[in-house]
Amino acid sequence: QQANIGVTGLAVMGRNLARNLARHGYTVAVHNRTGARTRALVEEFGGEGAFVPAGSAAEFVASLERPRRVVVMVKAGAPTDAVVEEFASLLEPGDILVDGGNAHFLDTRRREAALRERGLHFVGAGISGGEEGALHGPSIMPGGSAESWASLRPLLESIAARVDGVPCTTHIGPDGAGHFVKMVHNGIEYADMQLIAESYDLLRNAGGLGPAELAEVFRTWNTGRLDSYLVEITADILAYSDPGTGRPFVDVVLDQAEQKGTGRWTVQTALDLGAPVNGIAEAVFARSTSGHAVLRKAARDLPGPPRTPVADPAGFADKVEQALYASKIVAYAQGFDEIAAGSAEYGWDIDLGATAAIWRGGCIIRAEFLDRIRAAYASDPKTPTLLTTPDFAEALAGAQEAWRDVVATAVRQGIPVPGFAAALAYYDSLRARRLPAALVQAQRDYFGAHTYHRTDKEGTFHTLWAESPRKEVPIGTPP
Ligand code: 6PG
Repeated sequence: QQANIGVTGLAVMGRNLARNLARHGYTVAVHNRTGARTRALVEEFGGEGAFVPAGSAAEFVASLERPRRVVVMVKAGAPTDAVVEEFASLLEPGDILVDGGNAHFLDTRRREAALRERGLHFVGAGISGGEEGALHGPSIMPGGSAESWASLRPLLESIAARVDGVPCTTHIGPDGAGHFVKMVHNGIEYADMQLIAESYDLLRNAGGLGPAELAEVFRTWNTGRLDSYLVEITADILAYSDPGTGRPFVDVVLDQAEQKGTGRWTVQTALDLGAPVNGIAEAVFARSTSGHAVLRKAARDLPGPPRTPVADPAGFADKVEQALYASKIVAYAQGFDEIAAGSAEYGWDIDLGATAAIWRGGCIIRAEFLDRIRAAYASDPKTPTLLTTPDFAEALAGAQEAWRDVVATAVRQGIPVPGFAAALAYYDSLRARRLPAALVQAQRDYFGAHTYHRTDKEGTFHTLWAESPRKEVPIGTPP
């Protein structure tokens, strides 16, 4: 029997994706560099559907119906290049090679261009949802050609998560668009996690609440507008005690957050695109700071203010909820702004509302909230920022007083809130009628003759700062 699709790379993500496809009635060819994993998959889960185990890459390719659909699930970077090359040499024009890993979108663009030359479709597909998502329904963000999407669509739609009957997958755009969007998804994921962590820290250290009480707070929040997977697992983690010591689990975990790179890429890319994602950047830096044992050890005895618990913990929790919601709006607005910037730069024509829609389920940042973003773009597809769309503008207006109060409390008590503070600074920067950038630009002109524009007339100018009296000279011709 010819297989409908093949999966190579059977570590946990690849294995679960293959099982998901088989459970949906597809015949799935399976292959792994070491055959033991292939045999284990068929032995353990063969009853779930039709698998065609292959001992070699050639055997694997030969077992597939045409055009062939091959999903590669290996580590990003050099391993992906090696596997892509191995399979590309066995495939024929019209065949489709899907990279379901967390590749950098520039690598995906390079691979797509190289394979296109050889008549092959290369699809960089972001897949979110971890092991459980891969098995029960992830959110899938495929890039690549329209032809490859037409071929993959029925399979991806059947294995993806569903929200209101709508599958959490869509064609994001050509070449690297899918992996770009997955990268920004992860940047937003970092920001969301950081904001939740700051909320926890504030409520524990300024609010005086213990982990069990905090679990309750997050559980309650999860029934409101913050309803999301990340808030749900936070409540679960806070309610959990370490079986060995009986202590709150959160207290036995070393306070150093690691990262594999997608958050960092989001920020590096944003810098190149000129997209101001300071909230996401602070989340990445917060992880770096936490992991910087040397700096932290050197600085641990620097003085801070005395900590006095807030008078009204319940009222404070309510304010923190508002600060979290407002900061979350900012983090997502920044992520979508970066997607818009990437889409414009690379000519991808990404549908922002459709992107929000496929993040409603399956992925790590899944939440009711994303339906609000989808709706915001549906009513105003060209909005320059989510902050000014009616629903979010109203929420920000309602939250801003509490948000400021929470940041002020944190500052006064010496509790670091880089995420909350950055989000608030972004909000205030965008609102400002005048920014001190005018002074920065004047400084640039002063020391480097970098010129400036004026508020009262067209053109480019430079002041001869060293002359006395100083004189302004026009530079070039006004547009
Ligand atoms: C997902 C996750 C997934 C992975 C992250 C974790 O969408 O399913 O984002 O891709 O868990 O890469 O990233 P860090 O290891 O950098 O925290």
